[in-house]
Amino acid sequence: MRNACRLAAEVLQMIGPHVRTGVTTEQLDQICHDYIVNVQQAIPAPLNYKGFPKSICTSLNHVVCHGIPSDRKLKDSDIINIDITVIKDGFHGDTSMMFMLDQASIRARRLTEITYECMRTGIRMIKPGVTLGDIGHAIQFYAETRNCSVVREYCGHGIGRNFHEEPQVLHYGEKGTGMNLVPGMTFTVEPMINAGKRHVKLLPDNWTVVTKDRSLSAQWEHTVLVTNDGYEVLTLRPGEDI
Ligand code: MF3
Ligand code: CO
Ligand code: CO
Repeated sequence: MRNACRLAAEVLQMIGPHVRTGVTTEQLDQICHDYIVNVQQAIPAPLNYKGFPKSICTSLNHVVCHGIPSDRKLKDSDIINIDITVIKDGFHGDTSMMFMLDQASIRARRLTEITYECMRTGIRMIKPGVTLGDIGHAIQFYAETRNCSVVREYCGHGIGRNFHEEPQVLHYGEKGTGMNLVPGMTFTVEPMINAGKRHVKLLPDNWTVVTKDRSLSAQWEHTVLVTNDGYEVLTLRPGEDI
């Protein structure tokens, strides 16, 4: 898991300098695909996963998640989530981050920062004995006290030999409910936070999830290990401090 997760983090680092005005999300997909396959000698997990047509997810502005790379060129006001999952030696590493282009609005920047803090707040609570409900509650509280909303239809997940395993890691909930964390568990924390209402809809391509009210949405994701006394962020990037 450590190895697969490190590779996923390295893809996000590698792609950063390519996320610029004028590049298409399909070009970003191609660069990531080639890096994962040829340099890392790993497998891009999304490709053909339940019929997903590309190697990464690219979710722009009001897209909540599962955006499909296309010929859409990035604009200087865009915010975009890039979600990378690689398979190495049979294990999955899953991580995503937001990129803000030069002219992203103050609102977009604020949402992006709040969403990062939601993920961070959830991760920092992780230790044996804490429940999944404790984590969900903390994330929901952080978002809602800042006038943002938490998407409920999609959540974090156990991860390992399979892309999506039990348990579901909800980003909302009640303290003291749900599964107790136990050392050795690996799961993702990946809140999707909207600037407007929480409701979403699925586009006719059957993948792209957007906010119903067309408000901006942001997401960050890490894969985390529960340790004897806390957590280890397996997809941490160099210089990142949770
Ligand atoms: N990487 C996403 C997650 O965090 C799942 C993408 S599924 C795909 O769980 F098929 F769209 F790739
Ligand atoms: Co995930
Ligand atoms: Co992901």
